[in-house]
Amino acid sequence: AAKATTVTLREMKKEQKKIVMLTAYDYPTARVAEEGGADVILVGDSLGMVVLGYDTTLPVTMDDMIHHTKAVTRGSKQTMIVTDLPFLSYHISTPEAVRNAGRLIQEGFADAVKLEGGREILDQVQAIYRAGIPVMGHIGLQPQMVNQLGGFKVQGKDFDTALRIFEDALALQEAGCFAIVLECVPTPLAKLISEHLTIPTIGIGAGEGTDGQVLVIHDMLGITDKYLPKFAKKYGEMFTDMTAAVNSYATEVRDSAFPTAQHGFKMNDEVLEKLQK
Ligand code: KIV
Ligand code: NA
Repeated sequence: AAKATTVTLREMKKEQKKIVMLTAYDYPTARVAEEGGADVILVGDSLGMVVLGYDTTLPVTMDDMIHHTKAVTRGSKQTMIVTDLPFLSYHISTPEAVRNAGRLIQEGFADAVKLEGGREILDQVQAIYRAGIPVMGHIGLQPQMVNQLGGFKVQGKDFDTALRIFEDALALQEAGCFAIVLECVPTPLAKLISEHLTIPTIGIGAGEGTDGQVLVIHDMLGITDKYLPKFAKKYGEMFTDMTAAVNSYATEVRDSAFPTAQHGFKMNDEVLEKLQK
């Protein structure tokens, strides 16, 4: 399939074709996401948690995001790549937000950027958009706000929060976003927002009424021994499979069952004899 663009993603919404987004953080996960048929690859700042081992996304830096985006763009040439602007890379000032978004494009070769927040970051969204960089929004649960939210919790169950999220979605669309991630919001709210927007919504923990879906690749492949939230459906048990493979390797090495003759390289007898003298 041809590489998705902001234009084709909007057409997919019109035609009610679901958009498949999946995270990737390096060359092999990018190859898997592309060969598996994702429409969009997200280099999420979730990399802080799933590949760097932090408890939150807060320690992730611009340099981390660029480093991983470069690996992902080397692994997937036919897929749209969106990279997250990490914590504090777009809050200090609008010029700094544009500069950092530009680095993800120029140094990481991403096609678009994503940032968390609603009307409070509208200036930054507009400025990045005006620079020619496609922007994806992200509202509902904003993991970079975890310390203010008091944990990773569903957002928008009460009227005031639901209305705020709804109005933020409309404002982000108006400001130029080409799509919006809705994370951990009640299914009816996500559906309502999706129906009112002309740009696609991409859900995670947002039910079945969004225009697309995103999951963290390590979660859906089961490359983790951590507890997963209920929205993270597992399509594989790779942690178990990989641990078993390592275990077989360890056993075979200890039992001298691996390597065998077929895994080695031959040498000329004459060379050997000469060496032995
Ligand atoms: O960082 C990430 O993986 C994300 C998705 C969960 C939307 O932002
Ligand atoms: Na993220």
